[in-house]
Amino acid sequence: MNAPLRKVVFPVAGLGTRFLPASKVVAKEMLPVLDKPLIQYAVDEAVDAGADTLVFITSRYKHSIADYFDTAYELEQKLERSGKKELLAAVRNVVPKHVRCVYVTQSEALGLGHAVLCAKPVVGDEPFGVILPDDLIWNRNVGALRQMAQFAPSRDAGVIAVEEVPHDETHKYGIVDAEKTDGRAARVRHVVEKPKPEVAPSNLAIVGRYVLPGKIFELLEKTTPGAGGEIQLTDAIAALLRDGDVYAYRFDGTRFDCGGKAGLVRATLHFAMRDPALADIARAAVAEAAQPN
Ligand code: G1P
Repeated sequence: MNAPLRKVVFPVAGLGTRFLPASKVVAKEMLPVLDKPLIQYAVDEAVDAGADTLVFITSRYKHSIADYFDTAYELEQKLERSGKKELLAAVRNVVPKHVRCVYVTQSEALGLGHAVLCAKPVVGDEPFGVILPDDLIWNRNVGALRQMAQFAPSRDAGVIAVEEVPHDETHKYGIVDAEKTDGRAARVRHVVEKPKPEVAPSNLAIVGRYVLPGKIFELLEKTTPGAGGEIQLTDAIAALLRDGDVYAYRFDGTRFDCGGKAGLVRATLHFAMRDPALADIARAAVAEAAQPN
């Protein structure tokens, strides 16, 4: 796509029941992997893809996300006075100066499709990205969303990130039926939300990155509740396929499903092992914890 991806939507209204009781008061997107909350990894990836407008679809329980991206004057003054330059930069750079944050409240939890539709007044009719912060994708070089934006062949095409998952886990994902290819991108024939393994068309699962055309909003407006009684983004993408192109994109990177404990542990270990100050400590801690009592 020639035009840069300016707007990225973050659906963050979900309750995060898999992290109760912590998520009673801590938004799951604020759970840290080392010193950064999950939402920060997602925002960094959006900015890396060229975004200058970040649209958070939030709920009344998620004020901490807006607080986090707001300026913390008192804290900044304190750090400045005590000459803690690195910490000051870390606090100030949660979003670069040219990037603005917009918050839209999703007053009813009607599903991911409904959450994305809430962004319509901000996004309008241009291509945009969607990042589900639960899916943390690590890449040494080019972030997953930037890879997808660079690939997107036209303003009208949809691009969805995919990854193979075990066959018995298809019921947790949107599943893609795509043309066979050796390359990273394949034309999608069909998508279905959370099919049981017996009826899944493949084991190629949608992970939480999308580049979508503005047209998706009118399709979402017509989408009726689907899997789990929710308005599903996957169903609107299925509608988009009727008269447009959607590509499944096998991104380069490692995905951690941080919507659950296993993924959060894996991500934490992964980043710790890549931090020279923590690698030995992490290795020793795992060895020690593995000892029988
Ligand atoms: C959502 C999407 C699903 C996708 C998944 C990726 O499901 O509806 O298509 O595969 O994210 O994480 P959720 O995890 O919100 O149930």
